[in-house]
Amino acid sequence: MPRVALRDIHKRFGSTEALRGANLELAPGEIHAVLGENGAGKSTLVRALYGLVRPDRGEILIDGVPREISTPRRALELGIGLVHQHFMLVPALTVAENLLLGEPLPAFLRRAELRARAREILELYDLGLDPDAPADSLAVAERQRLEIVRALARGVGVLILDEPTAVLAPSEAAALLSLLPRLRERGTTVLFISHKLAEITAVCDRVTVLRAGRSVATRPVAGLAAAELGRWMVGEALPPPGSPPAMAAGAPALRLQDLRVPGLGGIDLELRAGEVLAIAGIDGNGQGPLEEVLAGVLPIGSGTLEVLRPPLAVLSGDRQRTGLVLDLSIGENLALSEAAGAGRERLYRYGFLRSSELQRVARESIARFEIRGAPDLQARALSGGNQQKLCVARALGGEPRVLVAVNPTRGLDVAATAAVREELRERARAGAAVLLISTDLDEVLELGTRVCVLFRGRLTAVEPERRTRERIGELMLGLGGA
Ligand SMILES: Nc1ncnc2c1ncn2[C@@H]1O[C@H](COP(=O)(O)OP(=O)(O)OP(=O)(O)O)[C@@H](O)[C@H]1O
Ligand SMILES: [Mg+2]
Repeated sequence: MPRVALRDIHKRFGSTEALRGANLELAPGEIHAVLGENGAGKSTLVRALYGLVRPDRGEILIDGVPREISTPRRALELGIGLVHQHFMLVPALTVAENLLLGEPLPAFLRRAELRARAREILELYDLGLDPDAPADSLAVAERQRLEIVRALARGVGVLILDEPTAVLAPSEAAALLSLLPRLRERGTTVLFISHKLAEITAVCDRVTVLRAGRSVATRPVAGLAAAELGRWMVGEALPPPGSPPAMAAGAPALRLQDLRVPGLGGIDLELRAGEVLAIAGIDGNGQGPLEEVLAGVLPIGSGTLEVLRPPLAVLSGDRQRTGLVLDLSIGENLALSEAAGAGRERLYRYGFLRSSELQRVARESIARFEIRGAPDLQARALSGGNQQKLCVARALGGEPRVLVAVNPTRGLDVAATAAVREELRERARAGAAVLLISTDLDEVLELGTRVCVLFRGRLTAVEPERRTRERIGELMLGLGGA
């Protein structure tokens, strides 16, 4: 008997049919992947299982019994836990305090007991978290582990992970992936959402593919090639990976000299028109301050920052925090573009936003970047990947001549990732200077005409003749040597 069965689930949001007959069965103790394009309905489906979305039609069976799951609390009582993609921790509290917070505890569980269980789980899985550390001192990967421990300590036997690796650096993603089989060994059923086909083939037992709200196939992963998975998802072959634009030594466009802010020590770099300078590195090594100082949010401590070919636009990787205003519509978010430059006069008349023009501009971007949503739709209502596409559209809309792209494809499906990378190459070929800051090594290698690594606030150039995954990986861990 399946541990969980979702049958013929339908869900409509206004005019959007997010789910139109989705089926999913989880066998006890399996790692089950859900794969699908941005907006295919993956998050909606798992949110239905976790009591955050009420299906319009269909049924949910837990251990063969039909259940109404109307709240996360009910889901937890039934042994189902969800690790949100956007973390819900309270930064000012400690690891231990955060364990106790959040959705109310199931009635049978006392605080002391929960704490004891959490300690046990931390040891059992060797998760290395200090219970007394404040949550805001934790790196992203640690916060995620804390969320997992919270769920397990609450007795969760079905653990849903919605794009857990999207926010992780490669080494951290590898650590998370290696945790999954250990959970399975102890009987936990894992539902794993990811856009990375290699992750699915590496650790999952079965995969269900969603296309436009319907499940199109469920298959064992053994023997499946990544390319085959990609074909199911989009119904056609995937584009092959691209390579960096041919280097054109254009005019200097951005120059940083001995730039210092807290978290960054003495950064020197010169970015030229027509090139993509890719900065690799594990999150937390200065990417945040570098992005903020380039965006003009963080004042320069000492040194200089010159934008020699304005305008400069920043495409932020943290779309929920700095990328979008979630309460505004798609159109309004596009109008907010700092680099609006050329489009500005068209959009405003006598200081007022012209809504007809806004609509037109929005429709153009929606079509060009294949965003699934109408101009009036609130950004909050977009799927994660479609929010990311909106960020990309916004940053590129002002025709920047210096473009700082921070994890530009985070959360994008395979096809959209390829499209955004090609767009960045195209911008460089057209003469823009692109500074890519990315935790994704594939991205760095596919885009960078030059590659640097950021480690503990310092930048090291990768020697062109040693431009390999191994070499960059070493530098990312500070094992550069000579
Ligand atoms: N609260 C909501 N209001 C309106 N529309 C919504 C809401 N939640 C989801 N949608 C829409 O439902 C569709 C499916 O969204 P969902 O978040 O499930 O996609 P997804 O497969 O998780 O995509 P991604 O890979 O981008 O995360 C999208 O078109 C999205 O815009
Ligand atoms: Mg999603």
